[in-house]
Amino acid sequence: MLRSAISSIFVALLLIACSKSESEPKLGSVSDLPIVQVYKSPTCGCCNKWVAHLEANGFKVEATDVSDMSLVKRSYAIPGSLASCHTAVVGDYLLEGHVPAEDIIQLLKQKPAIKGIAVPGMPIGSPGMEGSNPVAYDVVSFKANGETEVFSSHQP
Ligand code: CU
Ligand code: CU
Repeated sequence: MLRSAISSIFVALLLIACSKSESEPKLGSVSDLPIVQVYKSPTCGCCNKWVAHLEANGFKVEATDVSDMSLVKRSYAIPGSLASCHTAVVGDYLLEGHVPAEDIIQLLKQKPAIKGIAVPGMPIGSPGMEGSNPVAYDVVSFKANGETEVFSSHQP
């Protein structure tokens, strides 16, 4: 009696799990993530580590080495206060700096009316900037009009 009750609960949970994954948008499954176009300087080691982080999380990455990153940032109008080492484009959005893959997936799911998200500077502990003294940092969203807002916060 107890056993059949347990097994029917188990079946019910299984059904919930199955229907949940079906109703969820496909984004996040490896094949459906859009390509990330990364612009970086050829000598940037942490840029390569960030690219590896994206690939490890299912993104396809096309990286382009550019000699003048300030030109890239100017042409995409990245707010100076948010600048970091590399600049990337994914779908309709810009990515600046060591943005975690989970935030990019969140961005692509939510499709907010913003221009992009950034991790200003190069905080230790962000993806590609692993180190022995990680710090708390924010992912900051920015709009075309220059407005910025905290998109997510990460604790070490
Ligand atoms: Cu970097
Ligand atoms: Cu970089």
